[in-house]
Amino acid sequence: MKIYSSVAAVFCCLAVAGCSTHEKEMSALVNGSLHTAAVQSERMAESLMDRPDELPRTIGKDGKLMTSKSNWWTSGFFPGVLWYLYEAEGDDSLKMYAENFTRRVEKEQFTTDNHDVGFMLYCSFGNGLRLTGNEEYAKVLLQGARSLSTRFRPQVGCIRSWDWNRQVWQYPVIIDNMMNLELLSWASKYSGDPKFAEIARSHADVTMKHHFRPDHSSYHVVSYDTITGQPEKKNTCQGYAHESSWARGQAWALYGYTMMYRETGDRKYLDHAGNVARFIMDHPRLPEDKIPYWDFDAPDIPDAPRDASAGAIMASALIELSLCTEGDFSKRCLSVAETQLKTLSSPEYLAEPGTNCHFILKHSVGNYPGKSEVDVPLTYADYYYVEALVRYKRDVLKENMR
Ligand code: GLY
Repeated sequence: MKIYSSVAAVFCCLAVAGCSTHEKEMSALVNGSLHTAAVQSERMAESLMDRPDELPRTIGKDGKLMTSKSNWWTSGFFPGVLWYLYEAEGDDSLKMYAENFTRRVEKEQFTTDNHDVGFMLYCSFGNGLRLTGNEEYAKVLLQGARSLSTRFRPQVGCIRSWDWNRQVWQYPVIIDNMMNLELLSWASKYSGDPKFAEIARSHADVTMKHHFRPDHSSYHVVSYDTITGQPEKKNTCQGYAHESSWARGQAWALYGYTMMYRETGDRKYLDHAGNVARFIMDHPRLPEDKIPYWDFDAPDIPDAPRDASAGAIMASALIELSLCTEGDFSKRCLSVAETQLKTLSSPEYLAEPGTNCHFILKHSVGNYPGKSEVDVPLTYADYYYVEALVRYKRDVLKENMR
């Protein structure tokens, strides 16, 4: 572990002519937080070396580390955290751990019974491929894209998310599913086969049409009639109410359409991401520190739990959105993301190394109505927080990685 990396980065910034006080402060914050995250994540990895098919998930009700097997939707996030930290810090030990935990997810390339293949594989193998060029990783990703594509039905124009609860939903599509489209976009570029990207565009277009309310907030679950292809129900599963705005759902929408603009260059996705960003940033119940309550309409605000995972996903997406927009809107996106990074990097959210069962962040909400994972660390909060820090360091501060 390079203990001087954050200090070195600050000196590097100080040495650059024209580096403002704000940039120096953000550089110190980002590099210090990346270093804390690396210390925690190495300890997490070390603690699981003798449990070779387990991946970190959260802290259980007994106060102990709760892991999952690779088939749980969050399995790819910890390998992804390790890849990003290797990118930022450059330690060989981080790379060794990243390779080890990435291999643990490999068999999910054949998963066809849910839509989470993109989360599982693109965060793990996708980052691994980006940083190493390992062609074996590309083969796994391409098979994963084939598996995910089996869940697309032209009649609906979307990838089916879930197979459970068939008595209630004919063909459920959840807003989270936007995140799986990045794998399909990659697969078309890599293989030259346009069908994956066509599925991604169709899914994004149909979701844009049916998942959003006039104020640009998103439903969680839209179920389609399999014969007509039209929506039959607009529901929630993890939010407060069918008509409420579940915070992580809004974050998935923001991230998903920003990513689709990057992948396609189609302006309608950028405009839509901008509208979702405005819904979030203008919301009267978004707190000053910019970490949302678990649902924007939770009835017990301001006593409702915050969701650091939603804040981290929003921060990562807003950094990207700020870089592909201009003027006051771009500045506002970056400013909100900076506030989110500052809040998440404060002692209230960022765990002291050696605490929090080696997760990086505290205070996320997985499934409040299901009374599961309320006010706990979650591996995906860590992933999007570290991704946001890396994006800020690389794309905003333009500091060298490694
Ligand atoms: N994709 C599941 C969630 O956001 O909780």
